[in-house]
Amino acid sequence: MKHLLIRNGRIVNPDGCFDGDLLCTDGRVAALGRELPSPAGAEVIDAGGLLVLPGFVDPHVHIHLPFMGTLAKDTWESAGRAALLGGTTTLIEMICPARGDDPWEAYQLWRGKAEGVAACDFSFHMGVSRHDAGTDQALRRIVSEGVASFKVFLAYKGAFGVDDAELYRTLTLARELGVVVAAHCENETLVAERCRELLARGVTGPEGHHESRPPQVEAEGVHHFTSFLELTGATGYIVHLSCREALEEALAARRRGVRLGIETLIQYLLLDKTHAELPNFEGAKYVMSPPLRDRANQEVLWRALRNGEIDTVATDHAPFDFATQKRMGLGDFTRIPNGIPSLQDRVALLHGEGVVAGRLDLPAFVRCASTNAARWFGLFPRKGVLLPGADADVVLMDPRRGETISAARHAMAVDYNPFEGRTAVGSVRSVFLRGQPVVQEGKFVGRPGSGKFLARAPGIG
Ligand code: URP
Ligand code: ZN
Ligand code: ZN
Repeated sequence: MKHLLIRNGRIVNPDGCFDGDLLCTDGRVAALGRELPSPAGAEVIDAGGLLVLPGFVDPHVHIHLPFMGTLAKDTWESAGRAALLGGTTTLIEMICPARGDDPWEAYQLWRGKAEGVAACDFSFHMGVSRHDAGTDQALRRIVSEGVASFKVFLAYKGAFGVDDAELYRTLTLARELGVVVAAHCENETLVAERCRELLARGVTGPEGHHESRPPQVEAEGVHHFTSFLELTGATGYIVHLSCREALEEALAARRRGVRLGIETLIQYLLLDKTHAELPNFEGAKYVMSPPLRDRANQEVLWRALRNGEIDTVATDHAPFDFATQKRMGLGDFTRIPNGIPSLQDRVALLHGEGVVAGRLDLPAFVRCASTNAARWFGLFPRKGVLLPGADADVVLMDPRRGETISAARHAMAVDYNPFEGRTAVGSVRSVFLRGQPVVQEGKFVGRPGSGKFLARAPGIG
């Protein structure tokens, strides 16, 4: 048997913390306590002064992403390494087939990109971009493979977006199968009309992007989606919620009895629309959908995280190079590939700006960056908690050490970092994936291909 004994750390779980030891055996958590006896042959690590945290789960990333006439930059090799360096041990990627693609083939394509390449564990949400005669059968087969959640886009019509009949059919099937449906909520007709008006008025720069998608556009999308949930009885999960208006719609739906998870992003908590207004086309680095908002929304989102109204903080990692890909939208903001990379920095930033800044306590930090995602997507208690039987995915973080974020040092395969120059207080020193060291002293020591596909059963944990 292989034992790993982590001594004298501050062990943080979703329901509390204590100072003590964590014993892992053969890749699983075996015991927690004070002054645990050391089994013969155990590797013993002194975690004095460090936080001992469950491996973090990012429930919304894009790695293989053909989108807006280009392809996102990361591979599973670069993304897996970057995730682990940042303390994220599990990624859930969106499978995003184009409207004409076959769902089963898309599932195999996306899975094939990760399998044998990823150094972290991984799972998928199955994107539904069309719903016709053969779709139900294909989706049933994909769910039976362990991909127990769907993703729909109410935006991006003609690319990933579904119409209302397709949305209704997808939710009806999801209800029958007991799978959660994640949704990008924006009213595409309003976006298209406003883009047309803005371009006609000569607004062509990146700042036009947020003008084309104001909060009402997102709130209408949330209202639309939750009305369909109410009618079908399906369970929904709103991805990348950015603003007060959308939050109010989501909470109103919950009050009507709709089962609904709510995700925000580290970008919305820390960046605002003035970033997309930076001169010399720099703003293009900050173009994503829904767009970055007025700063006042940040406190609304932090408060909702603190009181548990928002369940998760994800990244929606979507890396497009500034030098080449973002420039496709010079002279027409509607052609700027949407997305802001952040997969590597989410955990440290959330710790620094959440815990150190006094907005979140340590258990809330763990809940919204790990446990709740595991619960919502059928990974709990295997992931998201340090309890006997859980996978020994463990992060040792120095909560006082600050690190300055820079594209020059990050491991993501993209030529800029939206948090360039910011210091994140909370340094990931060591990471273990199922008991194996994958980061030591802040350096990657994992192995591409050693990440596992996590088959998930329907239902929330
Ligand atoms: O702008 C974004 N969010 N890009 C990635 C695709 C999506 O909408 O999730
Ligand atoms: Zn989206
Ligand atoms: Zn996304």
